[in-house]
Amino acid sequence: KLMPLIEQVIAEAGAPELTGIAYTRGPGLVGALLVGASIAAGLGMSRNLPVLGVHHMEGHLLSPLLEDEAPAFPFVALLVSGGHTLLVQVEGVGRYRVLGESLDDAVGEAFDKAAKMLGLGYPGGPAIARLAENGTTDRFTFPRPMVDRPGLDFSFSGLKTYTLNCVQDLGEPNDQDRADVALAFQDAVVDTLTIKCRRALRETGSSRLVIAGGVSANMRLRQRLENMVHTERARLYVPALKLCTDNGAMIAYAGWQRLAAGERSGLDLTVRPRWPIDELARPPAAQA
Ligand code: KG4
Ligand code: ZN
Repeated sequence: KLMPLIEQVIAEAGAPELTGIAYTRGPGLVGALLVGASIAAGLGMSRNLPVLGVHHMEGHLLSPLLEDEAPAFPFVALLVSGGHTLLVQVEGVGRYRVLGESLDDAVGEAFDKAAKMLGLGYPGGPAIARLAENGTTDRFTFPRPMVDRPGLDFSFSGLKTYTLNCVQDLGEPNDQDRADVALAFQDAVVDTLTIKCRRALRETGSSRLVIAGGVSANMRLRQRLENMVHTERARLYVPALKLCTDNGAMIAYAGWQRLAAGERSGLDLTVRPRWPIDELARPPAAQA
């Protein structure tokens, strides 16, 4: 599938002159990572182009910089995807300090599991958001996990169990019941994320909040954060919807930032199924 896809993308982009190849080196499933790494290495060798392995979450993190109104460094970033929930202090490319993360399920994963309980398909996030549009406000109130504890970590497994119990108590939920649960679930998640983002802005003294990753496509989350940053006299930077969920542009952009600074990966095909984002280094030019 990958070779015809690459050919199609290059043709649609008007056959640009390539100066380097970026691929996703991790974190993720090792099989998928190896496919990308092998093809990148093969193309790099045959075309005599530099190759660089990119961190998937750095791709998400830098994706708002592709917008016309890009944030300046430093900023606080909320990264919310199917595999990760991270609050990161960002000083520049490769200069990341993790402020908080999920101790169990990622937010996107929680959306996907809650969706399954409600009989919805994958991806669960957009399905829950759509269902929640018909929900009745204040019928159910779900817990906001860990907001009354200090710190910037998250936990979503308790909310997941709460949701499951609620659905089971309803017996055979009708459409309205399911919409009400979806709304209560989404509100609890959005509230929790908003509270932690406000805390992160205050603790770092930052006036810029960036969100990225699949869950950042959630309209309710975008609205609530927009209101919050307004009262905090800060600004919210969001990627276009097509750049929120996984895409090649964000990997190309992160790779370009590093390749342009002279960074290269070897052709040894090492991938990193686990790869904490704060292990990333600054590109060489920035270090000089
Ligand atoms: O970043 P992403 O595309 O892939 C990963 O790196 O995991 O994120 C996928 C996650 C899925 O869990 C999906 O349910 C969630 O993002 N998602 C959403 C929305 N769109 C995608 N969650 C809530 N609301 C949305 N509109
Ligand atoms: Zn992703």
